[in-house]
Amino acid sequence: MASVDCLVCHDTMGTYSKKNNKCGYPNKDVDLAAVAKRVGTPGRSNCGACHWYGGGGNGVKHGDMDNTLASPEKSHDVHMGGLDFTCQECHVATNHRIAGSSTTSAVSEGEVSCTDCHDEKPHKMSSPLLNQLNDHCDAIACQTCHIPRYAKAVPTVTMWDWSRSGEEDRILEQTPNRLKQLSRRKGLLIKEKNAVPTYAWYNGKHYRHLKGDPVKLTGVTELNPPAGDIHDPAAKITPYKIMNGVEPADTEYGYLIVPQLFGDGYFKNFDWQDAAQKGMQAAGLEFSGKISFVQTKMHWRLNHEVVPAKNALSCLDCHHPDGVMDFKALGYKEDPALSGGRFKKVSPAAAK
Ligand code: HEC
Ligand code: HEC
Ligand code: HEC
Ligand code: HEC
Ligand code: HEC
Ligand code: HEC
Repeated sequence: MASVDCLVCHDTMGTYSKKNNKCGYPNKDVDLAAVAKRVGTPGRSNCGACHWYGGGGNGVKHGDMDNTLASPEKSHDVHMGGLDFTCQECHVATNHRIAGSSTTSAVSEGEVSCTDCHDEKPHKMSSPLLNQLNDHCDAIACQTCHIPRYAKAVPTVTMWDWSRSGEEDRILEQTPNRLKQLSRRKGLLIKEKNAVPTYAWYNGKHYRHLKGDPVKLTGVTELNPPAGDIHDPAAKITPYKIMNGVEPADTEYGYLIVPQLFGDGYFKNFDWQDAAQKGMQAAGLEFSGKISFVQTKMHWRLNHEVVPAKNALSCLDCHHPDGVMDFKALGYKEDPALSGGRFKKVSPAAAK
């Protein structure tokens, strides 16, 4: 723990802050002595100082976490709003090992699940219709029905096309829930708000594309697709934010380029050859000098922004021709309310 910054999590005054690109050293104008006298249990904003700003801005990376969680309405998040949960009430920390596995990293210090606190069959409805909800829990994750929308307050990036960088900054299209803009440094960005998740089978594992792995030069390379499908009893339908990317690749070696962006890198020189040369050297990978842009796709799991129960997805949100779920894409031949779930039929007679 020698080089761990304690105050980033334990400051309760909210004045402690870090300097951009100064390797994690605090701002000089912070009164460290005053902060040190008021250390306490981490609040949501302590954790949020890192997790809400991933990817270069508020809400950019995670579709379900941004600074709205500092003091959300109950309608935004029932646990952190209505119940004022801290992060570690769910992400239980034992001797500084914080539980909860992330979508992208293979290491994990234990898992967090809705059923750590709720029953596996949590619905206690008297009506036989609503009783169906508990049967659904074998095939559908809690999050699917209880997080019907994501990025409800702050837009999140869903498309990042690096090949369009270098042009002047401008807004291309703007509607209340969608912004398409060009950034000279970052390229074409699409940001979405109040978005409907994409649903996929997930059995608790994701595949991971690692540095130097082969990339498709045409078509889309999935960087971290969830494992599991309709035939896997351990898999459940789970909600995701999809992040589409267009990134530089080395066409001769057939892998993604790790460009140098900061310092004497792309953000200063706007030269991909130069940024690739420097970045690949630092990454310890060969670079052929031949660059083309390829399409990538990432899955980001949604676990926060749980809405009040009355706003959860219910029968007709899914079992309807215009429902949120693309049953065929998930592997069903039609709406399963008509012909039965993956391991059983609606009625034995229908099977004959
Ligand atoms: C990533 C955030 C984070 C960092 C960094 C961090 N802590 Fe903690 N710390 C926590 C959490 C979470 C708890 C549990 C609080 C709770 O139970 O609500 C905790 C608890 C504690 C406790 C109470 C006893 C215990 O272990 O439960 C002490 C003392 C403590 N931290 C000291 C430190 C010191 C000293 C450092 C720097 C070396 C540090 N912390 C760095 C998050 C952090
Ligand atoms: C109501 C419970 C709950 C609360 C409160 C909560 N989380 Fe989570 N969080 C989860 C669950 C469940 C997961 C999925 C973890 C797993 O699969 O092991 C998760 C996942 C995560 C992940 C991994 C994200 C990814 O997919 O890469 C991070 C980071 C995280 N939470 C941070 C936070 C922070 C920061 C806070 C406080 C602002 C917070 N969480 C509050 C339940 C909660
Ligand atoms: C100084 C920045 C920083 C702070 C503060 C911080 N984290 Fe993290 N946390 C990270 C990084 C970096 C990772 C690894 C990359 C990732 O998963 O996003 C991580 C990973 C996680 C994960 C995923 C665990 C895994 O094994 O992959 C969870 C859950 C999490 N943090 C929760 C918290 C909670 C709760 C707090 C507050 C008590 C907190 N973090 C404070 C930087 C931070
Ligand atoms: C650390 C314990 C904990 C975890 C983890 C947790 N919850 Fe809760 N949740 C509670 C408590 C306590 C309440 C309030 C009492 C109640 O309604 O059961 C609650 C309430 C709820 C409600 C009812 C909200 C309302 O008032 O309308 C829903 C829905 C819910 N949780 C869903 C989830 C989902 C989905 C997850 C996983 C992403 C989750 N919970 C994770 C403790 C937890
Ligand atoms: C198929 C969709 C669906 C799934 C899956 C689902 N829920 Fe629900 N849940 C609902 C709906 C709809 C309601 C509100 C019912 C009503 O009162 O009209 C609800 C209500 C609740 C409530 C409020 C208490 C109650 O009895 O009304 C809690 C807590 C809850 N769900 C937790 C969970 C947890 C935890 C899981 C995962 C184990 C889960 N739900 C899975 C749709 C679902
Ligand atoms: C989030 C989307 C969603 C919601 C909400 C939802 N369902 Fe379903 N339903 C499904 C899926 C997916 C299956 C297939 C589950 C399986 O493969 O086991 C299914 C299966 C069914 C089946 C066939 C079950 C069988 O195997 O015999 C019936 C009947 C049904 N749902 C009725 C309902 C009713 C009634 C409600 C409201 C109380 C409801 N559903 C809410 C997605 C949903």
